[in-house]
Amino acid sequence: MKKGNLVVGLDVGTTKICAVVGEVNPIRTSRGGFFSDGANPLDSHGNGFLAGGDNGNGSTALNRVDIVGVGSAPSKGLRKGVVVNIESTVESIKKAVEEAETMAGIDIKAVHVGIAGGHVSSFQSNGVIAIKEKDIGRQEMDKVIDAARAVAIPLDREVLHVMPIGFVVDGQNGISDPSGMSGVRLEANVRIITGAVTSVQNLVKSCQRAGLDVLDIVLEPLASAEAALSRDEKDVGAGIVDIGGGTTDIALFHGGNICHTSVLTLGGNNFTNDVAIGLRVPAVEAEKIKKTGTCSLLSMTDQEEEVSISYPGGKPGRKIPKRHLVEILQPRAEELLYLVKEEIIQSGFHGLMTSGVVLTGGAALMKGIDIMAENIFELPVRIGSPAGVGGITGIVNNPMYATGVGLVLYGAKEVAAPQKFGNGNIFHGVKTRMKGWAKGVFR
Ligand SMILES: Nc1ncnc2c1ncn2[C@@H]1O[C@H](COP(=O)(O)OP(=O)(O)OP(=O)(O)O)[C@@H](O)[C@H]1O
Ligand SMILES: [Mg+2]
Repeated sequence: MKKGNLVVGLDVGTTKICAVVGEVNPIRTSRGGFFSDGANPLDSHGNGFLAGGDNGNGSTALNRVDIVGVGSAPSKGLRKGVVVNIESTVESIKKAVEEAETMAGIDIKAVHVGIAGGHVSSFQSNGVIAIKEKDIGRQEMDKVIDAARAVAIPLDREVLHVMPIGFVVDGQNGISDPSGMSGVRLEANVRIITGAVTSVQNLVKSCQRAGLDVLDIVLEPLASAEAALSRDEKDVGAGIVDIGGGTTDIALFHGGNICHTSVLTLGGNNFTNDVAIGLRVPAVEAEKIKKTGTCSLLSMTDQEEEVSISYPGGKPGRKIPKRHLVEILQPRAEELLYLVKEEIIQSGFHGLMTSGVVLTGGAALMKGIDIMAENIFELPVRIGSPAGVGGITGIVNNPMYATGVGLVLYGAKEVAAPQKFGNGNIFHGVKTRMKGWAKGVFR
């Protein structure tokens, strides 16, 4: 029997589907005091402690997130991050969820699910309101965000997130939280993230057919950032680049807020295809040998090293010089990373990424990719694994699980602070609409 609130993140990826169960427990009761359970190793990251807001008597509630269950299954029904076969996706979701249920000893009924794919796009918008009472409160923040999101969206697109970038009070810009300030004119800059209605519906449908309610749909790079970027990095300026199997998801942060996001439809599967074609081997074998390679000839210590290739059906295997494999991986990795750099430069935020870029996703495990990325991006680069959580961290301590763990942290924030922007808060709006799709369309 678990004590705290349980939050389940469901990462429906192109190559694997994983369910991560997190237990959210309050850990601190007095403002400025020490954690009730003593010194905590999660302190340095900051994301594991989720501010639940002031409770009115001068104390601040903080929560600790422990991972208590993980389940994973190969994904067969997605292409480039988008569901293309509902039956296969449902089967994989069921397998991953059952595994997580067994490990956590619970029944999973509802999930926070991740979304990616080339159909996701974002744009910036502004809203302005006059302040009557001269003091800015949550209601005013809600109102100005509503004003900013009141833009025409094509019928085939739906709003996934409305993320405040910053507020302007009487012409003074760069304000991240204006509550309590005096002023007569409040302006909000927001980033609106939208997705294709049909792609979102197919994802929701797959979850529902697997017997799960969808509590919220979260853009995958936002989730990965929850798990792999620290609060300081987001403040100073940092990017997350999640290189998965079918997509490369990018999210850039500055001043604690998201400033740009995009999804490229290239990922680890493209490396596998190149290896399969270049070495004339089946895809399964290509996937296996790809993982033995590095993406830079310079980082190869032994130029004479060989790789064994085996074939199905009793055909005799052969050996090839490893450098042939690296010669295939290197240009593909360079192409992908130059496209990412182009995206960062186009966003206009390259100069603000002072803390650098964190690489997550399975393809970030390719040897040498961090060094290559550092040279190409001209920014500091590190490989990021989920941080800021406790519990069975051994299993999820892998860049591949950044999205799954991030979904749990994102969901835990909603549990901790469900009223961030008052009753009409942006999350509430998204959730209500999501329930509308779910019930009206599929049930
Ligand atoms: N050691 C490794 N070296 C190189 N590539 C690897 C390694 N381990 C995993 N990968 C690659 O990582 C990719 C899977 O990563 P991940 O699990 O993050 O993707 P996904 O979430 O299923 O897909 P997506 O996010 O694109 O929808 C595969 O292409 C796999 O080949
Ligand atoms: Mg992924």
